[in-house]
Amino acid sequence: LSQENQNILDASEWVAKLYHHVLRYTKNGEDGYHYLRERGITDETIRTFQLGFAPNVKDFTAEFLAKKGFHQQHLAKAGLISVNDDNTLVDNFQGRVIFPIRNHLGKTIAFGGRTLFEQDPKYLNSPQNDLFHKGKILYNFDLAKKQIRKQAEAVLFEGYMDVIAAHQAGVENAVATLGTSLTESQARLLRRYVDTVVICYDADAAGTDAAYKASETLRKAGCHVKIANLTENMDPDDYITEYGAESFRQNVIASSMTFTSFYMQYLKRDFNLSVESDRIQYIENVLKHLATIDSAVEREYYLKEVSEAYSVSMDSLLNEIQANREKMG
Ligand code: GTP
Ligand code: MN
Ligand code: MN
Ligand code: MN
Ligand code: MN
Repeated sequence: LSQENQNILDASEWVAKLYHHVLRYTKNGEDGYHYLRERGITDETIRTFQLGFAPNVKDFTAEFLAKKGFHQQHLAKAGLISVNDDNTLVDNFQGRVIFPIRNHLGKTIAFGGRTLFEQDPKYLNSPQNDLFHKGKILYNFDLAKKQIRKQAEAVLFEGYMDVIAAHQAGVENAVATLGTSLTESQARLLRRYVDTVVICYDADAAGTDAAYKASETLRKAGCHVKIANLTENMDPDDYITEYGAESFRQNVIASSMTFTSFYMQYLKRDFNLSVESDRIQYIENVLKHLATIDSAVEREYYLKEVSEAYSVSMDSLLNEIQANREKMG
């Protein structure tokens, strides 16, 4: 590790502690603390995730770290402060609730900060540097790792608050991407620990598209994929707030659907199923996917569904799928 990177790590460690302290024990942190409590986050969870608050004071962080002997340019590189044209320093995360981002070794390498108001950006992340690549990190992987192994399953979320709410609801094998699409590198990381990944993204159009994309990436990496059974237009955190932990575990996570069920549903978007020619095309597309399933039992299970839903005989479906499988070689 270069001296510069070591400095960034040290500064990040201090700042995480500082912001957490501010949130929990000082007047400067009250707004952040109340914000989290109002969202149902407990003191214990705040401690577990070392959540914090960056006070609404321009040079709070810079002052604190200068006293600890850190150099401006390292703090700027770590994305904690910016140096203005007139050479004054500003805290980048000012007035935001802080989510420390740790690498798989548990070292804090970056921060996410959420505004308390309607403000753009809603979430601010540290800039990428030698230590922090968004596409290589999964939020909470270090804490979730043990449960991920134990349950042989990981649950993948979109957001910090989803992971935190899920953890508090007893789903501790929870990780999230950091506002980007799931990368191959993240998929490989998960694959090293588990067979099965449950995707629990926001149940809106954007989240569903992202879930499909993430499925493809995970399947390519060799993971089995399931899709959580979330109520339309909710995100996991909303669901937990509305229906509680028990319902989240039972009706959302434990009731996840197979990737195939999800895909059969998802594909419908591209077709107008009240039009016969579209319906046929839809069925052919479904069959193309079903042909990739190796288990004959599983294939027949879904074929039966198609056969019943669209009044096509099992014989012709089986013929078509056989043809598809022969084409695949
Ligand atoms: P809450 O409103 O606090 O519940 O956040 P959310 O997690 O539900 O937000 P959303 O579903 O909009 O976004 C999911 C994730 O995308 C967040 O946790 C962030 O990591 C990321 N994200 C959201 N908004 C922004 C943004 O404005 N900028 C960046 N860089 N990332 C964002
Ligand atoms: Mn958003
Ligand atoms: Mn969303
Ligand atoms: Mn969301
Ligand atoms: Mn949310």
